[in-house]
Amino acid sequence: MKIYNLGSLNIDYVYNVDHFVRAGETLSSDNMSVFPGGKGLNQSVALSKAGAQVLHGAVIGENGGLLLDALKDAGVDTARIQKSKEGCGHAIIQVDKNGQNCILLFAGANHRLTRQYIDTFLQDAQKDDILLLQNETNGLEIAFEVAHQKQMQIAFNPSPYHEDLKKLPLSYVSWWFCNEIEGAALFGSESPEKIATNFLQLYSKSNLILTLGKAGSMFINAEGCIKQPIYPVKAVDTTAAGDTFTGYFLAALTRGLHAASAMELAAKASSVTVSRLGASSSIPYLKEIK
Ligand code: RIB
Repeated sequence: MKIYNLGSLNIDYVYNVDHFVRAGETLSSDNMSVFPGGKGLNQSVALSKAGAQVLHGAVIGENGGLLLDALKDAGVDTARIQKSKEGCGHAIIQVDKNGQNCILLFAGANHRLTRQYIDTFLQDAQKDDILLLQNETNGLEIAFEVAHQKQMQIAFNPSPYHEDLKKLPLSYVSWWFCNEIEGAALFGSESPEKIATNFLQLYSKSNLILTLGKAGSMFINAEGCIKQPIYPVKAVDTTAAGDTFTGYFLAALTRGLHAASAMELAAKASSVTVSRLGASSSIPYLKEIK
């Protein structure tokens, strides 16, 4: 089973701050780092570091050498990434003294996907291969339709959340990856139990992986619910923790692991990511987890 990830590539500008900048405030940062990031890139890196075969699809700007290197170094297949004269997507990330982050995104080349490109990207995809999507690129409606026609499994991380996502044919999704904010927005409650109930009423044949920060994570489908606690670490930077969870969970699935083992592995990998600075560079290899 092969994984196709049609996902964003961002240059992350990470600023360490005492607290997040407030309206009207000018705040100095005493440390700035540049990292490869983007939910798409981070998830491909996590998939590959966790042992999955992943083909990444994206449009990359002329300034994207750092991003391409990060994907290649992690073993991701980048053969179908298309070059553009437009600048790469980027993110301005503030990391506070507790390791929490807030992110401002600019899409850049991530919003240059065309129907022709998506068709070419998925041209060899087979029934039951997985198409992984997030909400940092354009073209989601086309990707949903092409993947559905090919009888692929769609894994969807509706992040960042936007009301327009509800216009997509969401019944095509087999694997949902939501955090508590996306879960509340999509399934109408802040209570994880209520999210689970509402989710199953809408999508009884699908699977939901709900990450809840320090409260751990839940795997929900019609057969039941698995709760997975976190592995506590000193939080340095939470960026890409969710992406690590998604990549590790899906990679475990392609290796034939059951959901409970996939959740445990994903929780361990995410805790390592949280203990390090940066996005994709903080994601561990499977051998480090073992
Ligand atoms: O999920 C973390 C990612 O969100 C960052 O790498 C940033 O680029 C944004 O896309």
